[in-house]
Amino acid sequence: MNYDFTENSEYDFENRMVSPEYTPEDAEVENPLRPKRLTEYIGQEKVKENLSVFIEAARLRKESLDHVLLYGPPGLGKTTLAGVIANEMHVNLRITAGPAIEKPGDLAALLTNLNEGDVLFIDEIHRLSRSVEEILYPAMEDFALDIITGKGQMAASYHLPLPRFTLVGATTRAGQLSAPLRDRFGVMLRLELYTPQQLADIVTRSAQILGISIEADGALEIASRSRGTPRIANRMLKRVRDFAQIISDGVINYQTAKIGLDRLEVDEIGLDSNDRRMLTALIEFYSGGPVGLETLAAAIGEEAVTLEDVYEPYLMQIGFLKRTPRGRCATHAAYLHLGLKPPGDTNEGNMQQKLIGT
Ligand code: ADE
Repeated sequence: MNYDFTENSEYDFENRMVSPEYTPEDAEVENPLRPKRLTEYIGQEKVKENLSVFIEAARLRKESLDHVLLYGPPGLGKTTLAGVIANEMHVNLRITAGPAIEKPGDLAALLTNLNEGDVLFIDEIHRLSRSVEEILYPAMEDFALDIITGKGQMAASYHLPLPRFTLVGATTRAGQLSAPLRDRFGVMLRLELYTPQQLADIVTRSAQILGISIEADGALEIASRSRGTPRIANRMLKRVRDFAQIISDGVINYQTAKIGLDRLEVDEIGLDSNDRRMLTALIEFYSGGPVGLETLAAAIGEEAVTLEDVYEPYLMQIGFLKRTPRGRCATHAAYLHLGLKPPGDTNEGNMQQKLIGT
């Protein structure tokens, strides 16, 4: 399903603590926290190692950096990394997003305003229209704009040289990028979910910048509940600070983090009440599945597309939910997490499974 929810106010992400998607409220927290240099950037070790080589080599040759495609789940720091690249290359950063570039002329205006070596960051690059993409190909390959004006006998084509620039494209769906666009990136880097320790380091750094007192066990508790995603961790830090002010003199420790996040209904592994409601319905109403998506959605009063795009990706990632041809199934791990007894989880059941060879 290819439903675009980022531009749809129908879905109320802003109230969901564990949504990895960007909301305007995140800006206040994220902007002062963005690392400026590669050495400040925590985690993504493979990405950083490769990037530092490419950046150093390009700088030694006094060339612009090759075009870079960053892909991976939302909230992991793709925009931040584009800023780091621009800083390390000592050039300006221009930020835009696929859906914001409506016409070929919009892109032409952006490109002609760049300076030599600048980084142009296009977020959600998989959402560029075909006509805009076609302007981008010669721009990326030959640093030129090919423009055709007029029609019939009045038609004229222009070949306008552009400054050499670096396009940094970001997408959550690399598979949706057209092959000609994908092929024009010299560097492709995949961002991965962060480990709890890396997230704890990020939370500790953020707390320091924001002037929040936090103990190591408090940072780790926030980290453990933030689904591998710095954006979620930083958002939680801000909320937990409020609890800390009221219940523990402003210091975030394990206890305050736990109380705060429990009150926000985010559990030890980062599931919120929606995730648990969906899994519980699947298990209690449909014996753990398989059940069709529409049926399950109706049972909990949600749209099927919300389940599919918002709740399911993380539940599948952590192995709590399976999509099968016959419908959705809860896994053994999901039962155990919810404190429910998985089917066949008795000696008798195990014996039966052995006997029938499953
Ligand atoms: N804030 C968000 N992501 C970060 C990262 N990877 N390193 C440091 N600070 C961050």
